[in-house]
Amino acid sequence: MQPTTTPRFDPRVSGLSQQVKTLAEPQLVYSEKARDVRAEYLDGALHLYRYEDILTINKHQDVLGNGGRGGSFGHDEKLIPLEIDGPEHKKWRRLLDPMFAPKRVQRLEDDIRRLAARLIDDARAEGGAEWYRAFCAPLPCQTFLGLVGAPLADLDFFVEFKEGVVHPKGETTEEIDANMATAGAKLLEYFNGFLADKRARLDRDDDVIAELMRSEVGGEPLTQADLINILFLLMFAGLDTVTSSLSCLISWLGRNPERRAEILAAPELLLPAVEELMRYESPVPSGMRFAQRDIDLGDGLLVPAGTQINAFWAAANVDPTFHEDPLRVDFHRERIRSMTFASGVHRCLGSHLARLELRIALETLLDRIPLYEIDADALTYNNIAVRSVTNLPVTIR
Ligand code: HEM
Repeated sequence: MQPTTTPRFDPRVSGLSQQVKTLAEPQLVYSEKARDVRAEYLDGALHLYRYEDILTINKHQDVLGNGGRGGSFGHDEKLIPLEIDGPEHKKWRRLLDPMFAPKRVQRLEDDIRRLAARLIDDARAEGGAEWYRAFCAPLPCQTFLGLVGAPLADLDFFVEFKEGVVHPKGETTEEIDANMATAGAKLLEYFNGFLADKRARLDRDDDVIAELMRSEVGGEPLTQADLINILFLLMFAGLDTVTSSLSCLISWLGRNPERRAEILAAPELLLPAVEELMRYESPVPSGMRFAQRDIDLGDGLLVPAGTQINAFWAAANVDPTFHEDPLRVDFHRERIRSMTFASGVHRCLGSHLARLELRIALETLLDRIPLYEIDADALTYNNIAVRSVTNLPVTIR
C-alpha cells in the first residue's frame, strides 16, 4: 500500500504541537502522554508516545519513513535519503554514511573550535547579545557551508532560506505551504548555479558535494536531480537542528547554574551532559511513518494498514514506562537511551557531526564564559517542527 491516497497529516498544525507550542517544559505533557495515553488518533494520524512501540515501528519492514511520498519541505521531489525506502534507501545510505562517519567529521574539529571561539569573542565584545542569532545560528551554518564547499558569502541567504522552510510563516496549512514553497524555489535556483560552479572546479575541491559528484550509485553517476535532492535535505536537516539544539542546551544550562557548576567542576561530565540534555530537550519532537500492512504492537494496540503515524520521539524520550525517573536530568545515568536522532533505517545521518558541534560549542562557551547569565523570563520557546529558543539574551558579567 502506498501513502499517496490519504490526506497528508501536518504535525505543525496538529492538536498536540499547538498545545505545547511555546511551553518552556513540554516534557511534562509528553511524559504524561506516554504514561497515560500510549497512542491516540489526532487529526487523522496515529500518535505514538512510548519508546518501545516507536522502536518497533522504526525497524519494522512494513513501515515507510516520513510518510513515504516526498514533497513535504517545499520541494516537489523525494528528498534523499529521508523520503526514500527499501533497497533504494539502503543504496543511498551506503554512499552517504562514510561521508558523515565519526572519523570523517572529526576532521572538522579544529575549524569548529576556531569558529566557536571567534563567535563567542565577538558576542562578548558587545558585553552580551541575543545568542540565537549571535552564536547558535552562525556556528552550524558556517560549519555546514564548509562541509559542502559553498561560499561563506552566502551565509545570510542560507539562514533566510532555512528559516523560510523550517519555520514558514502562516496560520493554515495552505499559507504555510505557500511560504515554504517560495523559500524552496529560491533555494532550488541557487543550488543549480552552485552545482554548475562546482562542476567547473571539481578536480580541486575536497568536500561532500565534490565527492558526490565523483561518485556512482548502482554503477551510474549521480544526476543533477539526485544532487539537489540530497543537498536540499542536508541543508535543512543539518542547519536548523543543530542551531535549535544549541539554543536549548545553552538555555537549560543558563536556567540551571548549579547543574552547570557540576560540569565546570568535572569536565568529563560534558559528554554525558550533552547526551542527557539532548534526551530531555528532544529538539526534533516527532517524525512521520506510514504502515503498509497491519502491525500488532501488543497489548491490544493494532496499527491498521494505511495508517499515518506521528512518532513522538520527544515523548519516547521521557516515557516513564521505559526510562527511570525520566523528568530528572541526570548526567550520571548508567546508560542514556534516546530517540533524539530517531532509530532504525532512517536514523539521523548527521548525528556524529551534530554531537561534535554541540560538544565543541559548549566546551568553548564554558571555557570562555563559564558564568554567563540568561534572562529566563525573556526566553522564547518554539516547539513546532524543531524545538528552539529563538530569543536567548545572554548577559556576561
Ligand atoms: C542535533 C541535531 C540533529 C537532530 C536532533 C537530528 C535529528 C534527526 C531525526 C529525528 C531524524 C529522523 C527523521 C525522520 O525519520 O523523520 C534525522 C534524520 C536525518 N538527519 Fe538529522 N538531526 C540532527 C542533525 C543532523 C545533521 C547535522 C545532519 C547532516 C549534516 C543531519 C542529516 C540527517 C539526514 C540526512 C536524515 C535522514 C536520514 C534517512 O532518512 O536515512 N541531521 N535527524
